[in-house]
Amino acid sequence: MTEEFDDLINELEAAIQKEEKELYSEKTLEEAYNPKNVGVLEDPDGCGRITGPCGDTMQIHLKVEGGKIVDCKFITDGCGPSTASGSTVTEMAKGKTVEDALMIEANAVLAVLDGLPEESVHCPVLAVNTLRAAIEDYKNK
Ligand code: FES
Repeated sequence: MTEEFDDLINELEAAIQKEEKELYSEKTLEEAYNPKNVGVLEDPDGCGRITGPCGDTMQIHLKVEGGKIVDCKFITDGCGPSTASGSTVTEMAKGKTVEDALMIEANAVLAVLDGLPEESVHCPVLAVNTLRAAIEDYKNK
C-alpha cells in the first residue's frame, strides 16, 4: 500500500513537472523555485503592498541610501509566476536609483523570465506596481 502510494505520488510529481516545463520557461521555473530576496526588511525606507485583480498580494520593502536602492525584499501569497516576478523585479531594482527603478516595466520583467503564458502576464504587472508603491511610499516620507 505504502509503495503504491509512493509510486502514485512520484507519478503525480512527474506529471506536474512535465506540465510546468511545457507552460513555463526554464528561467521562470528557476526563479519560482529558488526565488531571491524573499522576506521583509526591518525598518524599511519604503513599503508597498498591493492586491492584484486575481486576489494575490505582494509586498516589497526597500532600503534606500543616497537615493539608491541598496536592499529590496518581497513576499507574496501568489502563484509561482508572481514569486518569479517578485524575485526578478527586486533583483532589477537593487543598485538602481529610485528614479531608474520607477522606470522598470512589466515587459522587462517578462523578458527576463523569457515570457509567461497569457494567463500569467498580470503577475509581473503586480510585481512592478508593488515596487512603484514602495518607491512612492519612500518618496512620501
Ligand atoms: Fe495572481 Fe499570479 S495569479 S499574481
